[in-house]
Amino acid sequence: MVAEQKTMLTKHERDEIDSWLKRYPEEHSQSALLAALRAVMHEDHYLSTEKMDAVADYLGLPPIAVYEVASFYSMYELDKKAAAKNTISVCTNVSCMLNGSDKIVEHIEKKLDIKMGESTADGLFFFKVEEECLAACCGAPMMQVNHVYHENLTIEKVDQILDGLAKQRRSTDGEAG
Ligand code: FES
Repeated sequence: MVAEQKTMLTKHERDEIDSWLKRYPEEHSQSALLAALRAVMHEDHYLSTEKMDAVADYLGLPPIAVYEVASFYSMYELDKKAAAKNTISVCTNVSCMLNGSDKIVEHIEKKLDIKMGESTADGLFFFKVEEECLAACCGAPMMQVNHVYHENLTIEKVDQILDGLAKQRRSTDGEAG
């Protein structure tokens, strides 16, 4: 178990990392790295250098070991624009492309009035650059929103998902106000 230390990781992130650390021998803390980065992504929606350094510190790893992993896997986002509340990734690989992913991309860009790689002005959505195969080809075309898979997409289904998230946000804002 990693010693108690001052860290900028939240309690939820530390709890999540600790739960993974328990599964591996103490000298193999690096095995919890993917889960640690996922926990940070879950809270912040992207990986800042400060948070990656905090993960490195918490796991007793050199920061470069964390940067390498974070920049290798497309499921991790290093762009601060991804700090928007909801990240949308549409798979545009072969099976999805053959089943109309270009129409889905086009529709989302038009609906949200942004291009891939951009966030909406209200910070509600980030449309991630084209995603490679997400291993759900039998449900093509598909997209991932905040790591939740949505398969067999139609324009109507996309509208339902995005409108539902926007509605959720409006009711949360209403409660906060
Ligand atoms: S090609 Fe889209 S999930 Fe595999």
